[in-house]
Formats: sequence, C-alpha cells, structure tokens
Amino acid sequence: MGKQRILSGIQPTGNLHLGNYLGAIRNWVELQQKYDAFLFMADLHAITVPHDPQKLAENTYSVAATYIACGIDPEQATIFVQSHLPVHTELAWLFNCITPLNWLERMIQFKEKAVKQGENVSIGLLDYPVLQAADILLYEPDLVPVGEDQKQHLELTRDIAARLNFQFGSEEKPILKIPEPMIRAAGARIMSLTDGTRKMSKSDPSEQSRIDLTDPPEVITKKIKRAKTDPSRGLEFDNPERPECHNLLTLYMLLSNQSREAVAAECREMGWGQFKPLLADTAVEALRPIQEQYAALMDDRTYLEGILRRGNEKAGAIAGRTLAKVKAALGFSQPL
Ligand code: TRP
Repeated sequence: MGKQRILSGIQPTGNLHLGNYLGAIRNWVELQQKYDAFLFMADLHAITVPHDPQKLAENTYSVAATYIACGIDPEQATIFVQSHLPVHTELAWLFNCITPLNWLERMIQFKEKAVKQGENVSIGLLDYPVLQAADILLYEPDLVPVGEDQKQHLELTRDIAARLNFQFGSEEKPILKIPEPMIRAAGARIMSLTDGTRKMSKSDPSEQSRIDLTDPPEVITKKIKRAKTDPSRGLEFDNPERPECHNLLTLYMLLSNQSREAVAAECREMGWGQFKPLLADTAVEALRPIQEQYAALMDDRTYLEGILRRGNEKAGAIAGRTLAKVKAALGFSQPL
C-alpha cells in the first residue's frame, strides 16, 4: 500500500508570518514523511479580494520559497501553483452548477469578508469555497490539514463531492473520493501580538500585530517588546483572562521546541521584562536559518521554477484524470 495523500495550500496574499509557519507549514514538514504531500499556492483565491497585479507573481514565488525554506522537501512533496493548472477553474465551474447557492451564502468566512468589502463583494468571494472544493477533490487526498477557520469549507467540499456522487454516480462506483479534515489542535493557533483573542493574520492592518517570516532581527525584537501584555506577574498557559500571556508562551514553546510543561515551569515566576527578551532571542534564532535559505531561494529563480515545473506536471497528471472522470459522468462529449 502506498502512502496516504494530504493536500493543503496557502493564499499568496503578502508576507507569510509566524502564524502561517507555526500553525500550518511546520505541521506539513512533519507530515511530509508519512504522507504523500501536495502543497500549493492558492493564487486564484488571492484575487477574490482586491489585489495588486504587480505583486501577485512575486508573492506566489515567495510562498513557494517559504515552504522550502521552512523545511518542505521538494524531493518528497509536490509543490505547485494553482493558476498554472486550469483544471482547478474548470472543475470549479462544474461544481458551480451543482452547488446550491444557499450553501455558499451560509459560509461564515464569506459573511465576515463580505462585511469588510462593503459594496465591492465579488462573485469570486462567494464562490471561493467551490474553487477550494475543486482544489481538494482533484487530487483525491485522504486528509486535508487546515486550521479551524477552514473547517466549514471542508464540510462544504465533502457535501459537494457527496452530491455529485449521488446525482451522477452510483453507490458502488462513487466518482469522487470524500476526504477527511485534519484540523489542527487549537494550541497551534497563533494569535495577534496586539490582541490575544484574534488570529495572527495577513489582513490585519497593523504590522505590529504579526511577525513576518522575513522580519529582520531588530524588527522581531521590537515587535515582541511592544506586544500587548497584562499587569499580572508570573506567566501561565490557559488562563482565559490572559489570552496574550497564553499566546506568547505558546510562541516560546513552539519556537524553542520545548514541551508545555517545561515552558510552564520555566516561566512560572517570570515577569514580562525577563520573558520578552528571551522570547525575542528565541524567535530570532529560530527564524535565522529559514531566512537565510529563503534569501538564497529567492536569488535562484531558475531552481525554484524547476521545482514548480516538476510539481505542476505531477499534480496536473493526477488532476487531469479526476477532471476527465467528472466530465464523463456529467455526460460531456469527448474533445475532438
Ligand atoms: N482557503 C484556504 C485558506 O485561506 C487556502 C486554500 C485554498 C486551501 N484551497 C485550499 C487549503 C485547498 C486547503 C485545501 O487558508
């Protein structure tokens, strides 16, 4: 039996930050040994809100370089670009025609983002989860590792697959494989440096709220120094009144590769004046090798392009077969 397959992606909408690394990419690095990993840059998703065409391609390369710099091994994992494989948009169209509109109108992320966009909500923003379903189902993965915020999109993906199977397949011969979600533990969710109850996010207007993976040491140190804290002495995990304290300890735990117990014991008596420099140094040291490799990769475009070309080929072959299966089931004629 071959390895089980996993698939996941990140939108190239700007610099990746510690939340992307500790919450997502680092898990993939662990998973890539045990699973056949398909990891991609969701650049078609990146244009569902207004975007800068000058930066889209660069951001796409930058995410690919970040994956590898963080430890994704291009020899093991398949790394590819969503927009380079038109099958994603094609399958999304087919799904559009079998997905009830009210399934999409219910999506929490759509409702949240739509409020922010005001008058300018595109159909693409509403349709975003259908494209995501296509991204996933094309590769017939066993598991889809994502954060808690993507859970509803995975349920929708499963619903779309089940509906297509029900309408156009048979029980003995399902057309699409229904994947299982692999939702990360809440502890791995990294929160904003300015508000410990909100997720660290690329779309937060405040730079101070996150640490970008490319931030130089002095910026990292400054951001940690200014991070929101509380007046209590002694640091602890899990106190609901102290979300910032929990988040900064979690960061320290993950970046220093220590257990929760070890960190809880080490920091129990500490004040912020002692803890913050410790966290800053730990973050700087943990990011140093990633930053060095990232810079080298961004300097060697030919190498990076070679990896993506291979990834696209491998991914495209699998995705093409799935799309052909779906089109046949829907009754399309063969292209002449
Ligand atoms: N919507 C995901 C996010 O913002 C990115 C994404 C697009 C994705 N397609 C996917 C994640 C398919 C997993 C599988 O995080």
